[in-house]
This record gives sequence, structure tokens and C-alpha cells, in this order.
Amino acid sequence: MMTDPVQPLAIALSRCGKTFADGTRALEPLDLEIKAGETVVFLGPSGCGKTTTLRIIAGLEDPDAGGRVLFDGVDVTAQPIEQRNVGMVFQSYALFPNMTVAENIGYGLRVRRAKKPAIAARVDEMLGMMRIEPLADRRIDQLSGGQRQRVALARALAVRPRALLLDEPLTALDAKLRDALRLEIDELLRRLGITAIYVTHDQAEAMALGDRIAVMDHGKMAQIGPPREIYRRPATRFVADFIGTMNRISGVARGGVFVTDAGAVPWLEAPPGTTEALFRPEDVTVVDEGQAHLKGSVVAAFFLGDRTRLFVKVDANKPLVVETDARRDYAHGETVGLRIDPRGLMAL
Ligand SMILES: Nc1ncnc2c1ncn2[C@@H]1O[C@H](COP(=O)(O)OP(=O)(O)OP(=O)(O)O)[C@@H](O)[C@H]1O
Ligand SMILES: [Mg+2]
Repeated sequence: MMTDPVQPLAIALSRCGKTFADGTRALEPLDLEIKAGETVVFLGPSGCGKTTTLRIIAGLEDPDAGGRVLFDGVDVTAQPIEQRNVGMVFQSYALFPNMTVAENIGYGLRVRRAKKPAIAARVDEMLGMMRIEPLADRRIDQLSGGQRQRVALARALAVRPRALLLDEPLTALDAKLRDALRLEIDELLRRLGITAIYVTHDQAEAMALGDRIAVMDHGKMAQIGPPREIYRRPATRFVADFIGTMNRISGVARGGVFVTDAGAVPWLEAPPGTTEALFRPEDVTVVDEGQAHLKGSVVAAFFLGDRTRLFVKVDANKPLVVETDARRDYAHGETVGLRIDPRGLMAL
């Protein structure tokens, strides 16, 4: 069955801050624009304000005075949640345990006083979309975690929302199931063309799903951009450290070379005055000492099957993380040569 396309919603926040009654400042006044049909992932450590931002968009929370929420350019700040027509998959917004799967999915339509045959048809369609037809008459407590998440998604989508807000929908699931459902959600969001905001702690999930990632830090947007940009050109040290693994080494940039205690790395574009070079594990390779930029000693080697992750001590900083092919063993204390791809070097 084909789902009618919905007109996706453009969402904007203008100076939306949030101070809770007890004085907790959860959000600094925030500006954010989400394009119609876009998937934006909010990523950040616990307590940085992700859920609060979602709740403000949904209408579950009012922003502080002066903050405005705009849907397609129209101010909806005063509009109650029922009128905003956004779907939600929140952990705190649990399924109704005393209803069957089908009743849960049809709930929003019943509240909106849709006709019985229309509800039944839509529920069937959603059961099919989420591939849970055989579960229609089960109670919620008879479902696995992954099945519950499918029901939650089906319930949120049943009312044809113009935007979908998902708050860590997969966190409670085991890794394999999470991967599988993440793929399905990705496919679903693209097929429906719906605007989506997806909150997660998991950066792999953020990279996979987001058209853009918004990295949050202490109630502020530290950076917002496509996954590649966030990963390759982090705007701040916080973003650099939060996303992926970042190596750092101290030295001085001089005449197109970055000179460190462990050796020198060619770096033509080093900004003047640079005293620290940052680079990702995939931009370092283990090479013969003759070709090495840096030398260090192996402090740990983890065999990961398809590759080996080495921790190499080169200076007083934390050991460098280096990924290398898994064809040979590395001994603790072994000296290795490292070569760094200059294109991967960053200064912050
Ligand atoms: N009702 C409330 N009253 C007071 N403080 C609150 C309330 N709700 C949230 N906070 C605080 O606001 C801050 C942001 O909370 P929020 O739930 O948005 O974080 P989060 O980024 O979603 O974190 P997590 O990843 O742990 O879910 C936290 O310091 C939290 O303790
Ligand atoms: Mg949260």
C-alpha cells in the first residue's frame, strides 16, 4: 500500500532558551533552522539540552520569554501539542500497556475522531510498513524491545505527522537490533520525506542518519553541519573530542613542517603559531622507521579481527590511536614508525 506523501514541515527556533523553575538553565537562547524534509540529529553528552529542545519543538515545554517556535514560518509557540501535528517517539512517551498493538497505533486517529474504517485501514498500513502484522492483537508486554520500538514508530506515523521527533529510540536495544532498526528508520525517513529530528548519544548513529548533525554542549549548539564536515572540520575542541577519536601531538610549526619531540611532519598549511596538531586514526599508518614522520612505542594493541588498534606513545600527550591491518602482531614496547597524511592534520 502506498502512503500519501505529506508536506514536510520546516521548523525554526528563534532565541529559544529554557530555564526551569528550579533555576536550572537547560538551554541558552538558541537559533536553529531545520529545512522541510531534512533529518537533523542532536548529538551531545548527557544533560546538554537535547530532550529539552525536542520538547520545546513538540510543545511539551514552553521556551523562556522571547523564544519562538516557527513551523513553516508561522509562530506556533502558543499552540498546544495536539495542534502541532508532530509525531513523537520518546522514551518517556511510552506505549499504552493496556491496549493492543493495533489499538496503540490507532490511538492518535481515535483522538482525532477519525472514522472507524479509516482507522482500521491506516492501522493495517502501518502494521505492514513496520512489518509487524502478526503482532496486531498482542499486548505491549508481550513484545520484545525491538517490536515495541516498531509499534512506537507506527503509532507516531499513523497520524501522518509533518515532522517526526525521535528521542533515543534505539538506546535500549542490543547492538545488532539497533543496527537493523537504524537502517529501517533511515530508509523510512527517506521514503516518507518527512522532517525528522533524531536525538542520540551514539555518534555512529548520528553519522548514519543525519543530513546534518547538531552537536550540543551545555545548552548551546557547538556546531551544526553535515556529518563529514563535523568529522573533518570540527569547529571547537569539544566537537573534535566528542566525535570520533582524535589524536593530538604537541610541537611547533616552522617552514612547512610541524616539529615534535618524536619527529617532524610535513604540514604546509599549518596556521602560524600552531602548537598542537590533531588528526584521526585513519590518517596515520605504520611504516618502516626509515619512512616514518614520528617514532613511538606500542603501549597496547587490540586485535579487532579486520584490523588492529594500536596505542602508540610518542610524547607526553595521550598515546596516539592508530588503526593498522591485522596481519601481524605488535609487542608491548615495540618501536614503530608512523606516517601521517598531511591532509588529515588540523589545528584548533
Ligand atoms: N523539569 C526539569 N527541571 C529542572 N531541570 C531540568 C528539568 N528537565 C531537565 N532539566 C535539566 O536540564 C538540563 C538538560 O536536560 P535534557 O533532558 O534536555 O538533557 P539531554 O541532553 O536530553 O540529556 P540525556 O542525554 O541525559 O537525555 C539537565 O541539566 C537537566 O538536569
Ligand atoms: Mg534526553
